[in-house]
This record gives sequence, C-alpha cells and structure tokens, in this order.
Amino acid sequence: MQVILRQLGDCNIRRAEPSDLISVMEINLKTLPEHYSDYFYESLLAELPEAFIIAEIGGKHVGYIMCKTEYGFSNFKKLGFVKKGHVVSIAVLDEYRKKGIGRALVEESVNGVKLRKCDEFYLEVRCSNNEAVRLYEKLGFVIRQQLNAYYRDGEDAYLMAIELD
Ligand code: ACO
Ligand code: ZN
Repeated sequence: MQVILRQLGDCNIRRAEPSDLISVMEINLKTLPEHYSDYFYESLLAELPEAFIIAEIGGKHVGYIMCKTEYGFSNFKKLGFVKKGHVVSIAVLDEYRKKGIGRALVEESVNGVKLRKCDEFYLEVRCSNNEAVRLYEKLGFVIRQQLNAYYRDGEDAYLMAIELD
C-alpha cells in the first residue's frame, strides 16, 4: 500500500516500495559520485522503510532520501551512547531542484527516524556542497566535525547532526 506523506503541488512525497528502487538507483547515478550495490538499496528499504522516501511527479521519480539506524557515540553528549538515524544519500534531479522537494524529503525522513525512537540524526556532506549544507542548516543540523579525506577523491566531509526530541 502506498503511504503518501505530503503533496507539494503536483509532487507526491511518499514512502518507497521495492518497485521504486531501480528509479532511485538511476537518480543516484545521475546526481552523485557515490554509488551502491542493488543489495544495499534493498536492505535499507527493508530495514528502515519509514525513512526511505521518494518524490514523484506524475509517475516520474524525481528525488529520494534513504537512511539507516545505528547505535554509537553521541555527536552531542560526552560519553553518551545513543540510537542514531543516518542519512545515507539524498538527491533531487537537477531540473526539479529549488522547489522545496529536498527540504520535504529531509523533514519526512526526520519523522521516520523519530518513529524509530532515534535520539539524533546525522549525515556526511562534501565541504564544497553549499546547497546541501545550507539545506541541512536551515533544518537545524549543525556541523559537528570535519572528516579529513572522507571521500575517495580526497575531499573532506562535514559531519552534520541534529538532536531529536
Ligand atoms: N522557489 C524558489 N526557491 C525555493 C523554493 C521555491 N518554491 N522552494 C525552495 N527553494 C529554495 C530553498 O530556499 C533553498 O534555497 P537556499 O539554498 O538558497 O537556501 C533551495 O531552494 C534548496 O532547497 P530545496 O528546494 O528544498 O532542495 P532541493 O530540492 O533543491 O534539493 C539537494 C537539495 C538534495 C541538496 C539537491 O541540490 C541535490 O540533489 N544535489 C545533488 C545531490 C547532493 O548533493 N545530495 C546531497 C549529498 S550529501 C548526502 O547525501 C548525505
Ligand atoms: Zn554516511
């Protein structure tokens, strides 16, 4: 059953289903240099469907966000061990950017990881990726660390995180 979370004009924001994964992989190939195996997409959808969300306009997939949960040291509390949501990847096709779709995907994934009782939500982003960093900052994420040579091409990442209530 399709779970539509919200509508932005003609764009539906809804939970992903197995039949969406090929389109998600195609968007990923077009928009980001980090790619994953088919199995990895399937496992993220199986493990955290609440935060695997797609944006669709008239049957065309235009964006996705996919996440996982982990237990680990807090990005905020000294010595705290917490449950964390982790944004593995988010992208919107170029032609559909700057319409609020990225924001809606992140907001709905926040709701999804809250359903799973995560204490914090975090992600890594290229330090040069101003659009993405600005979007996350607007939604309350803060830069907590700079990860040296995190990407295969040697670029650093910011680790950005938000505390959930
Ligand atoms: N009219 C004009 N501008 C608007 C409107 C509107 N109706 N709605 C939103 N905007 C503006 C926002 O205010 C924001 O502006 P700002 O950057 O000046 O603050 C800007 O559009 C972007 O916000 P959204 O529209 O919500 O986001 P978008 O759909 O463009 O998606 C994303 C952002 C996902 C980062 C996109 O640029 C993208 O796919 N980039 C390539 C892939 C990528 O870099 N992904 C992130 C990697 S990090 C990771 O995956 C963890
Ligand atoms: Zn990550």
